[in-house]
Amino acid sequence: MRRIKTLSAIVVLVTLFLIFFYSTLHLETAYGRRADPGGPLKHATSQVQDSNVKTPSFTTPHPAVHDVSVSDVLRQIIPQNGAYWNRLLYSALRNLNKGEDPFSYDTNWSGCRETSQEFLQNNMHDFSSYPVLFQDFLQGMKCRTPPVLLNQPNKCISGDRKGDNPTFLLFAIKSTPGNFERRQAVRETWGREGTHQSQLQVRIVFLLGSPSLDDPNLTQLLSFEASQFKDLVQWDFHESLLNLTLKMHMFLQWTLKFCPNASFVFSGDDDVFVNTPAVLRYLQSLEPYKASRLYVGHVISTASPLRDPQSKYYIPLSFYDGPYPAYAGGGGFLCSGALLQPLHSVSRVIPFFPIDDVYAGMCVEALGVSPEVNNGFQTFDIKEQDRENLCVHKGLLLIHQRSPLQTKKLWKGIHSPLLTC
Ligand SMILES: *[C@@H]1O[C@H](CO)[C@@H](O)[C@H](O)[C@H]1NC(C)=O
Ligand SMILES: *[C@@H]1O[C@H](CO)[C@@H](O)[C@H](O)[C@H]1NC(C)=O
Ligand SMILES: *[C@@H]1O[C@H](CO)[C@@H](O)[C@H](O)[C@H]1NC(C)=O
Ligand SMILES: *[C@@H]1O[C@H](CO)[C@@H](O)[C@H](O)[C@H]1NC(C)=O
Repeated sequence: MRRIKTLSAIVVLVTLFLIFFYSTLHLETAYGRRADPGGPLKHATSQVQDSNVKTPSFTTPHPAVHDVSVSDVLRQIIPQNGAYWNRLLYSALRNLNKGEDPFSYDTNWSGCRETSQEFLQNNMHDFSSYPVLFQDFLQGMKCRTPPVLLNQPNKCISGDRKGDNPTFLLFAIKSTPGNFERRQAVRETWGREGTHQSQLQVRIVFLLGSPSLDDPNLTQLLSFEASQFKDLVQWDFHESLLNLTLKMHMFLQWTLKFCPNASFVFSGDDDVFVNTPAVLRYLQSLEPYKASRLYVGHVISTASPLRDPQSKYYIPLSFYDGPYPAYAGGGGFLCSGALLQPLHSVSRVIPFFPIDDVYAGMCVEALGVSPEVNNGFQTFDIKEQDRENLCVHKGLLLIHQRSPLQTKKLWKGIHSPLLTC
C-alpha cells in the first residue's frame, strides 16, 4: 500500500514536471524522449545511485535548491529573449523560484548527449550551419560527470608534520596531456609546491582532459608523471576549447572535495608567468572581507559575443543574445576558496557556456560579487619593449604568455640578487 502511494506520488511529480517543462520552455516535442520519467527520477535520486555507477566522478552531494540564490544583477545583464541559452537560463531561474530543480543535466555520462538533431534544429533554427565543434558542444552541454582517470586525493592533506597550516594558495593549471615541458617549467619556477614565507602552503594541480584519438597514446607517460609529481588530475573528456567550461566545473568539484580549506585558488593556463612572491604578498595584504569574496584578474568589462563564424570564440546569435558580464581573463585569475561552494551551487542554475572565463564571470555575477580589476594581471601580454625587462616583470603578478624557456629565464632573473629595482 505504502509502495503504491509512493509510486503514485512519483508519477504525479513527474507529470507535473513534464507539464511545467513544456509550458515554460516551449521546447519542441523531440525533447520528450529525454524527459522521460527516468530522467527526472534519476536526477532526484542521483546521490543514492552514485555508488552504483561504474565510473563515478567526484560528485559532491547537490546542495538543496533553496541554498542557491541568484543575484538580480545577472538578470539585469542577461536579457530574456528567444536565444536558446537565454531561454535555458530563464527557465532554470523560474524553476529555482518555485523551489524546483533548476536545470536538468544528466548524471549518466554515457547517455547524456543530446542526439536528436530535430530537437536542436527546432531550438536553434540555424543549428545545422553552426561550426561542427559548436554543434558538438551543444550536444554535450548537459554532460557534467566525466569519469576520473587520474586523481590526487591527498593533495591538500598536510604530510606527516602535525599542525601544518591548510593550503593557502592552490594553483589549478589548465594543461593538456602533451604539454610535459610547460608543466615541468611551471614546477621548477612559479608553481613550486611547499611552504613559502615560512608559513604559507602552496599546492599545484594540473587539470587534464583526454587526448584526442589522433594523438599518440600518452597514457603510460602520464601515469609515470603523475606518480613522480603527484600533481595531475585527469578526466575522460576530450581536450578542446569548448570543453574548458566542463574542466572548470570538474575542478570546482575536485577542490570542494579534496582541497576544501584552501584560502585562495589561482586558475590559469600552463603558459603564463606568475610572480608567486608578489601574488602571496598581495593576498596577505587583503582585508578579511575582500579576502572572503575575491575574484581578481585582468577584467574584461564590456565584452560582447563575437559573431564572426571564423573566430575561435564565435557565438551564434540564436544560441546566445546579450552582452557578457564583466569577467576576469581565463589566462589567470585569483579567487577566494570561500567562493567555491557558492560558485558550485549557482553552476547548477547557469547552463554551461562554451567560453570558460565568461562562464566563470556569469557564475560570480550570480553571487553578486564583482570582479576586481588589478593591472598586475596582463593576460594580453605587455608592451613589446618591456618583454625582456626584469624590473617590469618584478612589479607584475601575471603575464600571458611565455614559453618554458622564457619562464625559467624570467624566474631566475627576478630572483637575482644583482637585480636592482
Ligand atoms: C546510461 O545511458 C546509456 C545509454 O543511453 C544506457 O545504456 C545506460 O543504461 C544508462 N545507465 C544508467 C545507469 O542509467
Ligand atoms: C593506451 O595505452 C594503454 C596502456 O599503455 C592502454 O591501456 C590503452 O587502452 C591505450 N589507449 C588507447 C586509446 O589506445
Ligand atoms: C567534450 O568532451 C566530450 C567527451 O569526451 C566529447 O564527446 C566532445 O566532443 C567534446 N566537446 C568538444 C566541443 O570538443
Ligand atoms: C578542513 O578544515 C576542517 C575544519 O578545520 C577540518 O575538519 C578538515 O579536516 C579540513 N580538511 C582538509 C582536507 O584539510
